Amino acid sequence: MTLTPRLLDRPALWALLAALVALSAAACSPSPEKAAPPAAAMANPKYTAAQFDEIARRVFAPIYPYLAEQMKQDYGITSGIAVDAGSGPAYWAIALAQTTDLEIRALDIDPEALAIADRNIAAAGLQGRVRTVLGDIHKIPLPDNFADLVVSRGSLPFWKDKVQAFREIQRILKPGGVAYIGGGLGSLMPASERALIKETMEKEQIGAPKELETTFAQLGGILRQAGIPVFKLSHDEGCLCGGWAEFRKPAAKDRP
Ligand SMILES: C[S@@+](CC[C@H](N)C(=O)[O-])C[C@H]1O[C@@H](n2cnc3c(N)ncnc32)[C@H](O)[C@@H]1O
Repeated sequence: MTLTPRLLDRPALWALLAALVALSAAACSPSPEKAAPPAAAMANPKYTAAQFDEIARRVFAPIYPYLAEQMKQDYGITSGIAVDAGSGPAYWAIALAQTTDLEIRALDIDPEALAIADRNIAAAGLQGRVRTVLGDIHKIPLPDNFADLVVSRGSLPFWKDKVQAFREIQRILKPGGVAYIGGGLGSLMPASERALIKETMEKEQIGAPKELETTFAQLGGILRQAGIPVFKLSHDEGCLCGGWAEFRKPAAKDRP
């Protein structure tokens, strides 16, 4: 049979041709295991969301309650709204909710990470207090002057445009609100626990790829470019996980 123009006019034939094309395309696609990860998962190319969750539970779990307590001690922010940016499985967000009366948004670009976060939040009985938000740090889907506190741990190395990311953090902070952004173990963890985590991280080579690390000099430049002239940079003792940038959004009356 030849495909004469008359035959090609028939809708049934077109449907058959379309089905054949779809079938051959499916046969050529890689199996789900081999398929390239979705773009969002590439935000943290070293681990899938599930792999990171396993590491967070096994290795990092003690860090989050110390960090939550540190936020309370250092800034005295115990109510209002906090955002955990690049929250992954949301353990810091959960620890913050357990330590304070804050309402928390766990923001991440990876839907798989947020599916895990939702399960963790439900397991902690914190639905409603901690809510996941799918979004990119470079265009945070939250309003201006929204948060009393923005925290982020272990996500900074993966941000493609750090100046834009810090502009966004500053935008969503309320005047007088505080940001604590970076990576590490925080300042309250005892030395013995630090040493254990450091040892495991070294042994298993856990952490962001070296080439994605930001030096303090670079970070200072990034913050100034983002319009944040006053900030503090610090580094946790005994940790192979970068450092922290800390700043407060000036109250309207203090702005230049
Ligand atoms: C190493 S994990 C850290 C997770 C969590 N903060 C913790 O310490 O347990 C980094 C997370 O940052 C997220 N991330 C990377 N780039 C992002 C972006 N542009 N916007 C929002 N989240 C991002 C990743 O999807 C990943 O869940």
